[in-house]
Amino acid sequence: MFKEKFKAVNDGYTFDDVLLKPLKSSIEPKNADVSSYFSKHIKINIPVISSPMDTVTEDKMAIAMARYGALGVLHRNMSANEQVEMVKKVKKEESIIIRDVFSIDPETPINVARTIMLTKNIAGLPVVESGRLIGILTKRDLEFSESNGKIKDIMTKDVITADVNVSIEDAKYILYKNRVEKLPLVDKNGKLMGLITAKDIKTREKFPNATRDKEGQLMVGAAIGAYDLDRAINLEKAGSDFVVVDTAHAHNENVLSSLKKIRKNIDIDIIAGNIATAEAAEDLISMGVDGLRVGIGPGSICTTRIVAGVGVPQLTAISDVADVARGNNIPVIADGGIRYSGDMVKAFAAGASTVMLGSLLAGTEESPGTEIIINGRKYKSYRGMGSLGAIIAGKSDRYGKLGTDEFIAEGVEGSVPYRGRVSENLFQFVGGIKTGMGYLGATKIDDLKEKAIFIKISNNGLKESHPHDIRIVSEPPNYQNSNIY
Ligand code: XMP
Repeated sequence: MFKEKFKAVNDGYTFDDVLLKPLKSSIEPKNADVSSYFSKHIKINIPVISSPMDTVTEDKMAIAMARYGALGVLHRNMSANEQVEMVKKVKKEESIIIRDVFSIDPETPINVARTIMLTKNIAGLPVVESGRLIGILTKRDLEFSESNGKIKDIMTKDVITADVNVSIEDAKYILYKNRVEKLPLVDKNGKLMGLITAKDIKTREKFPNATRDKEGQLMVGAAIGAYDLDRAINLEKAGSDFVVVDTAHAHNENVLSSLKKIRKNIDIDIIAGNIATAEAAEDLISMGVDGLRVGIGPGSICTTRIVAGVGVPQLTAISDVADVARGNNIPVIADGGIRYSGDMVKAFAAGASTVMLGSLLAGTEESPGTEIIINGRKYKSYRGMGSLGAIIAGKSDRYGKLGTDEFIAEGVEGSVPYRGRVSENLFQFVGGIKTGMGYLGATKIDDLKEKAIFIKISNNGLKESHPHDIRIVSEPPNYQNSNIY
């Protein structure tokens, strides 16, 4: 019986085992479209996700990722309240429609209004009487008025307004046509329902590819433990666009029943993982999840495969899961082990819709890791969420739980080279992906999945793939990892 096991052994492939065959193409890389689905209801312009790790994604990273068209998942090595506050911070970073508008009563004395505008740094203050908008107080109104008196005497009375359901494009037109800076939104009865400012519209135009929700705010989500229903509910209330149920092994009966419970209680997208098999994909999908996170042990900081002897080489894991997910219209996130943009192209070719990065983003300016200088070169700290440091810091339940006070680590702590800003890195990743699509004649990520043909390579093939027989003196930004340590 045991001998039989080896007769049934399957091959498993990872990034360095294969290359993609070049195919006849009629497209230029610059015309390739890299937009893709992160989850069932969330489409993004750059198919890259920052991992929920405490040295990778906090608010700064999530803001940068969403601004440039990608997406960040906040880690969960913090209290539920801290996580909720972080979601709100990202959401408030670029509000196109301000919902909790600060307004004043027409009877307010002019000097009080002046102080409010100064201290709150507001340039135009809606004036509201019994809930209805009756005017707006602008800096200009104040400039030419005495300090005594009421604001009802000096406010601008014929306010330019728009319906509460106005589109952003129409709002922009109204603002520019009337040369005003603020556009109050009102309902049928003239009740103040929101405010759009020209400044926020300009910011929005600076980031045309950004990942935004219906209200124009940046999208963000957060990781939760497998049994953390309360956290999921509170995150949804705080405006989180999705939750990632973050476990080392999601194909577990208890996790599955918890997923069912979470599904019943929240309406936002639920992404679950990690998994690495078709059977796991089937079971998770039947619990109603909207996205699958794939990868058991491929990560740069992971020791799961070494400690537990368990895992599936990443490209095989992706393709096994993607075969099931595709029929159900559920996007697959390839999580872990990605070192170059070429690995991203291979992950898409194997069936993933997006890639999740830890190490490649941990070295950016926007990551929360500590800066370290070694031999005059700048690095940032990076650690596995199953490393002793992360487990102790967050009392994480993702790894290391055997019901004792001792921990069994499944990750390591270290540092990665500083890599500049997120935007520069995303630019390089997208450039690499588009180049790959050009070689394959793929105009879209889905096209790439259809057309790609893998070819198995030997160790010699791999050696030949990297620069060889040269001492590299200048590393391009998309090939930084050659001589770093
Ligand atoms: P990369 O290769 O991008 O991988 O650095 C990031 C992914 O690794 C996973 N992760 C871990 N896996 N032990 C593990 O086995 C750990 O301590 C650990 N921490 C993170 C996670 O899926 C992440 O997105």
